[in-house]
Amino acid sequence: MKNQGGRRWPLVVLTSSPFHGHMTPTLQLAKALHAKGFSIAIAHSKVNPPDPSNHPSFMFLPLSDNLSAIDDSGSFSNFIHTLNKNCKPSFQEHLTRLISEQNEENRSIVVIYDFIMSFAGSVSVDLNLAAIVFRTCSAAYFPAFLARLQLRQEGRFLEQDYAIQEMVPNFHPLRYKDLPFSKSPIEDWQQLVAIFSKQIRPSAVIWNTIKSLEDESLTRIQEHYQVPVFAVGPLHKITPTPPTNFLQEDITCISWLDKQPPKSVIYISFGSLVTLDKKMLTEIAWSLAKSNQRFLWAVRPGSVCDSEWMEFLPEDFIEETKERGLIVKWVPQRELLSHFAVGGFWSHCGWNSILESISEGVPLICQPANVDQMVNARYVSFVWKIGIELERFERGEMESLIRRVMVDEEGEEMRVRAIGMKEMVKEAVENGGVSHDSLEGLVGFISSC
Ligand code: UDX
Repeated sequence: MKNQGGRRWPLVVLTSSPFHGHMTPTLQLAKALHAKGFSIAIAHSKVNPPDPSNHPSFMFLPLSDNLSAIDDSGSFSNFIHTLNKNCKPSFQEHLTRLISEQNEENRSIVVIYDFIMSFAGSVSVDLNLAAIVFRTCSAAYFPAFLARLQLRQEGRFLEQDYAIQEMVPNFHPLRYKDLPFSKSPIEDWQQLVAIFSKQIRPSAVIWNTIKSLEDESLTRIQEHYQVPVFAVGPLHKITPTPPTNFLQEDITCISWLDKQPPKSVIYISFGSLVTLDKKMLTEIAWSLAKSNQRFLWAVRPGSVCDSEWMEFLPEDFIEETKERGLIVKWVPQRELLSHFAVGGFWSHCGWNSILESISEGVPLICQPANVDQMVNARYVSFVWKIGIELERFERGEMESLIRRVMVDEEGEEMRVRAIGMKEMVKEAVENGGVSHDSLEGLVGFISSC
């Protein structure tokens, strides 16, 4: 296809970060753009690479990161710093080579980069290419991040007081405890601010969210960036995409679910990054046992501090729950959330999990851990009212929340609202819906570059 200037449609180079929760929506976006007719290249770190066999029509550009694992550098901010520093030279080499090849084909290049991979923005601008930033978190996270910055500058936010329940002035509905990185060491936060404040001004912004869900936050984003903002989510509902799995999916859980009554099972998962200690897992286990509800629990290997997996759980817990509970390592989450037997989701509130839950009308128990998850949990529980946030991490409180979501009238009301949101998502991605139209706008924007 050719654009108005008679050039062939641009090659789109997407730069993904190695986190599962970022790689998945990046590949979904790539798939959606490929379906619209663009050629696609994926630049990725060597740590946690995507599987090219799932995407035979894409070109893959490995970046030399000199890292062997996500936690190689000690802290999150160190990792982001090293990733950006190490990947930059090979990204520059790939782009320089591609520019000369594409010039011969009379085709330009547009770069879409994960916000975390900020080097990709600056390299692209240096090479005179359009650079579009892609955000895989909620839109609400962005004003919350700005609030955190502003309060810090004013010296009004004491880092050690992250638990405080008061509302942040002018940032309704957030409490101090909901602000991003409030649980991280201050040095980590300062280093991240230093990295992210060097971001270039992008040509446009893409967000994996829905305008009808996050209109107010998207307006704030638009005011901040002053460039076109495209809300094209939830991307997993736009184009069917193979799952990005760094772990083997245990599909036996689906046949186990097939045998359970409708809406009777609570699904528990804390995503691809969160780690918990044995005490917390033991409290969760006993709350599940005492609640008398059916459960399916995905416990990622490596997610339990000082333990291989769940071998520390007592025999009597296993005995008590063997007829109504299943614990596995990694599940096909999207498929599972759409299963008739799943009636609730106990989640760390990563944005992909929230989008996947909303898309299937499943109410939540929120147990956020860090970064954007507290903001997401606040919106789920306080604004959208489709879930409850766990505030006290002990079995009595957990048991009570399970029953409130799975059994009580309150849970039924949340389910009705969640099903309303499922309808909203369906409309958004259909022909003429807000996300569908925003994607069309993005296609027009890229093809004019
Ligand atoms: C991270 C951050 O934590 C999150 O807050 C941010 O918004 C995106 O990046 P992660 O912690 O992994 O992601 O959470 P989430 O965004 O929920 O993504 C997890 C993904 O893993 C989901 O797409 C989910 O479907 C998938 N998953 C999880 C599985 O496929 N199987 C599982 O067993 C568990």
